[in-house]
Amino acid sequence: MGLPEERGRSGGGSGVREEAGARSRARSWSPPPEVSRSAHVPSLQRYRELHRRSLEEPREFWGDIAKEFYWKTPCPGPFLQYNFDVTKGKIFIEWMKGATTNICYNVLDRIVYEKKLGDKVAFYWEGNEPEETTQITYRELLVQVCHFSNVLRKQGICKGDRVAIYMPMIPELVVAMLACARLGALHSIVFAGFSSESLCERILDSSCSLLITTDAFYRGEKLVNLKELADEALEKCREKGFPVRCCIVVKHLGRAELGTGDSPSQSPPIKRPCPDVQISWNEGVDMWWHELMQEAGDECEPEWCDAEDPLFILYTSGSTGKPKGVVHTVGGYMLYVATTFKYVFDFHAEDVFWCTADIGWITGHSYVTYGPLANGATSVLFEGIPTYPDVSRLWSTVDKYKVTKFYTAPTAIRLLMKSGDEPVTRHSRASLQVLGTVGEPINPEAWLWYHRVVGAQRCPIVDTFWQTETGGHMLTPLPGATPMKPGSATFPFFGVAPAVLNESGEELEGEAEGYLVFKQPWPGIMRTVYGNHECFETTYFKKFPGYYVTGDGCRRDQDGYYWITGRIDDMLNVSGHLLSTAEVESALVEHEAVAEAAVVGHPHPVKGECLYCFVTLCDGHTFSSTLTEELKKQIREKIGPIATPDYIQNAPSLPKTRSGKIMRRVLRKIAQNDHDLGDMSTVADPSVITQLFSHRCLTIQ
Ligand code: WTA
Repeated sequence: MGLPEERGRSGGGSGVREEAGARSRARSWSPPPEVSRSAHVPSLQRYRELHRRSLEEPREFWGDIAKEFYWKTPCPGPFLQYNFDVTKGKIFIEWMKGATTNICYNVLDRIVYEKKLGDKVAFYWEGNEPEETTQITYRELLVQVCHFSNVLRKQGICKGDRVAIYMPMIPELVVAMLACARLGALHSIVFAGFSSESLCERILDSSCSLLITTDAFYRGEKLVNLKELADEALEKCREKGFPVRCCIVVKHLGRAELGTGDSPSQSPPIKRPCPDVQISWNEGVDMWWHELMQEAGDECEPEWCDAEDPLFILYTSGSTGKPKGVVHTVGGYMLYVATTFKYVFDFHAEDVFWCTADIGWITGHSYVTYGPLANGATSVLFEGIPTYPDVSRLWSTVDKYKVTKFYTAPTAIRLLMKSGDEPVTRHSRASLQVLGTVGEPINPEAWLWYHRVVGAQRCPIVDTFWQTETGGHMLTPLPGATPMKPGSATFPFFGVAPAVLNESGEELEGEAEGYLVFKQPWPGIMRTVYGNHECFETTYFKKFPGYYVTGDGCRRDQDGYYWITGRIDDMLNVSGHLLSTAEVESALVEHEAVAEAAVVGHPHPVKGECLYCFVTLCDGHTFSSTLTEELKKQIREKIGPIATPDYIQNAPSLPKTRSGKIMRRVLRKIAQNDHDLGDMSTVADPSVITQLFSHRCLTIQ
């Protein structure tokens, strides 16, 4: 933990904090009566009753919800047991321990056989090219998943094994993750935008025995040779003494030559000239997905798992620089994502849901795969990007599938806002009923544009605050119940008890600003950091014993609305993706020219925050555009393109406290050319600051 002076907030993206006071008095928007009329929760009063019950009687509240799922054996003992207080012993959370079930069975077999929805479309797949589409029903998805589960079984995958998945947004990705879940194996999905180094690090951390990947894919205009990156990662694993014995490869770009077969993405041949993607083949390790699938049987009995067995690992940036493997479990996660999906998007059977997030992030895990499928929903699975082939792609796609509920990130909204209203209004969007956002604070301008232009003033916006660690939504409006204030995530979801603490850990009442924490467990909370329970306890429970600490600051206004003010620790939120400053700094200092580096968040009109790096060079090296390009490349290779800095500044030295801690708070001000530096009594050498201000204008990119 740093000294207090290092702990300023990371930029706040879009001036969120400065405006917070004004905004809390801004008008609020009532839920439209036509939405409330048919909503599961039709009024604020009803929300309050349900919320109160969920906190006072959590066992009964979640027990009723659990009855809707299939359990092989019921819960034999206490429904919930936990310890949130490090001073009283080990932190643990157990929901329904001893009950057995299978989440894949619940999201597929139960929907097909019990709910009789086998012929309902589970996913409309929309490829990178608008002409590339396919669809898959629940029954077809179940067949594919059973086939692939048998493939994995044949490769020796058993309950408890870890399987790494590195794939673009194609139906096989969903098949792969559900097949792991069916066998009780933990999937560890690594976003396909991550570098080979990041993939290697994640494979090693959880010793994955198998990798599932894809030949190549297009992201807009850009060709990504994923197999090449996967090969590099496996080579690095081998060098580090960990040979992964099997790599299953989906032929995706090259699939035109396959004809229709056992692959779910049976889309028409790609219209774009498809270059011959050269992929290398490692005999004895690599296997084609379609060949293995042809030999696999149709039936696959699920592995019955304890509710508290791990379901998956998903890595999130840690403030020490090493990513943390967040572990979610079968039972609690299932209840929580199913329930948040149902209420937050006010799901009804005829809905077409579209979450634009990549499955490589938690939003995709919870609201592309598990949440919608657990409700028998029809969703859009989108491989492309919002700006390809043009900036109206999202809205033409909304019309194409008659999307009713649409969920995206503020960064996408800000990006599209720049092109004006016409690309949106050119399309009807008449099907839209509810809009959602996630990932970072949404600035009121973007909220108002989303509401006025995209939603034509008739769609409520659910601004959902949550984290990889929380599994599902924590603070959010409900579309038929909650009056919205632009920029506020409003109120807690069922089972969620937030509090605002001051630096001494005292709970603040009424209007207040401080640390956002949660007082009691909800079913979707993570259970541990893979292989490092101590890190779990230290990161989330040490600072304020008795509470789960989010790492976010927040303000509660006079009406009880929560406003997230940004990360309190050294994390950055770039386009809704969390990065740790330490991670980027360590990538920079690995370059031979760099002696020291400090990275801060800087407001960016589209990304929310971007990276502003200060680098101190080793003697004998000079600062040049060639060097900054090399450094950017280094970061892209070590972490991935999302971490590419927007600014790299030469810093002959860095402002430090007397105890030697870098003062990031001051660096953030320098980056913004803000001379109002506040208390500078702890700075060791004030002349450094003058020097950095003068270098600033000369050296930004
Ligand atoms: C931020 C993404 C404000 C927050 C689901 C959190 C938000 C971090 C919001 C988690 C929101 C997410 N308003 N801030 N609606 N949603 N955040 O783990 O800082 O990728 O701690 O999970 O994103 O990011 P993560």
